[in-house]
Amino acid sequence: MKSILPAVLLGLVLIIFPGDVVALNRDGNLPSHINNLQPDSIKQKVQPVQYKPTRGQMLYENHCFTCHECQMHIRANTKVKKLSQLRYFVLIHSRELKLQWGDDERDAVTKYLNERYYKLP
Ligand code: HEC
Repeated sequence: MKSILPAVLLGLVLIIFPGDVVALNRDGNLPSHINNLQPDSIKQKVQPVQYKPTRGQMLYENHCFTCHECQMHIRANTKVKKLSQLRYFVLIHSRELKLQWGDDERDAVTKYLNERYYKLP
């Protein structure tokens, strides 16, 4: 008996105040376009971010963020003063991670880091 009590109460409310319940569903007060929404009437206002990473950037972002992010490459006391040192860091760090990178991958990441941060000749 207890379990049907809420249903009985709701029934009573509906019988006594039918107009009010219908009023909740009446959409006459809503702006008319709400009722006429079409899939393409919702224009995307925010343009997707153009993210076109180079291969070097993708390799770097995928593998090298574990320990340091890019701040490492703009620190004041950088240990990279020559391109060969940058190459060396890329070599030892990719080995450390057991990435089995070849010249292609190491060159791409070295190029990416140099163009973006070090700008060494
Ligand atoms: C295991 C942790 C770790 C990972 C993973 C790692 N690094 Fe590093 N990296 C360091 C640490 C620690 C330093 C600072 C070393 C120092 O001061 O001698 C550093 C410094 C560097 C520097 C020199 C920064 C500067 O200007 O002095 C370069 C370049 C670099 N990392 C490249 C990479 C690349 C490329 C990868 C991905 C293949 C990578 N690292 C992944 C720990 C890591």
